[in-house]
Amino acid sequence: MKILGVSGSPIENSNTDRALKIALAATGVKTELYKLSDYTIAPCTACLGCRETNVCVQEDDGIMLAEKAYKADALIIAGFTPYSTIDSRTKIFIERLYPLHHRHGLMSGKPGGAIVTCGIPPGHEGMPPACENGVDAIRNYMLAESMHFIGEVRVPGNVPCVACGQEGQCGVSSLKILFGKDATPENVQINIVEDNLGVVAALEKLGRDIVGAYYG
Ligand SMILES: Cc1cc2nc3c(=O)[nH]c(=O)nc-3n(C[C@H](O)[C@H](O)[C@H](O)COP(=O)(O)O)c2cc1C
Repeated sequence: MKILGVSGSPIENSNTDRALKIALAATGVKTELYKLSDYTIAPCTACLGCRETNVCVQEDDGIMLAEKAYKADALIIAGFTPYSTIDSRTKIFIERLYPLHHRHGLMSGKPGGAIVTCGIPPGHEGMPPACENGVDAIRNYMLAESMHFIGEVRVPGNVPCVACGQEGQCGVSSLKILFGKDATPENVQINIVEDNLGVVAALEKLGRDIVGAYYG
């Protein structure tokens, strides 16, 4: 069995990347991880040029990534949630799996999972459901392609304001919006996925469950 993991996070060694690695490591089978920011991939143009060949006509890395998804036995997609929706690289990757759809449904029946890192704490009053929106984007792709959606893990991440260094001069800090008027980069909790044992356990379970679903 071989599992493909894809991360939409452009940040080096990000929480999203490391969360995906934790899930993949727990599978105990052969895995491959692709970080989308290392590749050139344009969105689907809806030209339907792939309808007979099951291969995109855009000659970029999207062709290789779709082939990796086709050849994998299972897929875990990991993204984050700028402006409360799935990040653009993850969305583009999903769109570029469309060539695998025509006539054969080439992703059908494969186990799949979602990992989504978000800065807005789940259930935060008055804020959009960022993590839910991100999970929905991945889950809806997998359900639309008749994959076997195994589950999702929501990873608490960090809003960029904790690292930007402009807090003193900033009138629009997300820290104050999310954590109150006294919040500063020094006193808000920095989320590190490895320190969140519940999330680590959920990631490991997702990896194991995907293997379990494959072997039935
Ligand atoms: C431009 C931008 C906008 C963001 N907007 C949101 C948002 O609306 N909601 C949210 O939950 N997180 C938001 N975030 C925070 C990211 O989801 C958060 O940084 C995530 O934890 C990054 O994960 P990473 O460290 O794995 O890259 C935003 C981040 C960026 C860069």
